Amino acid sequence: MTAVPVIAIDGPSASGKGTVAQLVAEKLGFHYLDSGALYRLVALAAMRAGVPLDGDERLASVAASLEARFEAGEPVTGAIRDEACSIGASKVAAWPGVRSALLGRQRAFRRSPGLVAEGRDMGSVVFPDSGLKVFLTATVEARAERRYKQLKGKGITATLSILLQDLRERDARDAARSVAPLKQCPDARFLDTTAMSATEAAQRILAWYRGGE
Ligand code: DC
Repeated sequence: MTAVPVIAIDGPSASGKGTVAQLVAEKLGFHYLDSGALYRLVALAAMRAGVPLDGDERLASVAASLEARFEAGEPVTGAIRDEACSIGASKVAAWPGVRSALLGRQRAFRRSPGLVAEGRDMGSVVFPDSGLKVFLTATVEARAERRYKQLKGKGITATLSILLQDLRERDARDAARSVAPLKQCPDARFLDTTAMSATEAAQRILAWYRGGE
């Protein structure tokens, strides 16, 4: 039996990996997993239930009982995308109990004909046997600019310098944690999208997947 193929796309916040991963999934007719959304949902559920973000046990049970159903193309609520939730997600993601509670839920997305999964540890922990692993990044300035435009487009007021600082703090937290830190896998391809559109980045990944350069 051949395993269902997985393309793992990991990288820092606001690198554009969500848009790129969705384009690749669409092109191949594959399923799509936005693993960051699960961490965001845990943060949102915890904040709403008054569970502090600085303890593993209660957060892990929030994660285990999460009622989350995602379908490709389904619009995600605004609440999990706001800055408070972005910061909260990065905090809850540092707890090992939360990460292991979400493991099975993420692996369940691996269904025929294939999966494009994006996050921080898709290639290293969740789908280590992925056929293609990509580390997708861009400079922190380019990422802050993209997030700024994205928020503005949604009518949300934001300050570029604050977004830049939030991103730097989140990068540091995601890279410094002891479980599944954000880092490039030795077997991942590096893709810097600072000077690239999402379509160009998706084309590059598709070419790698199809065996071209
Ligand atoms: O990709 P994102 O910005 O939506 O992710 C939100 C937070 O969740 C991010 O700060 C780190 C965490 N995360 C993680 O630790 N592992 C993943 N696979 C995906 C996200």
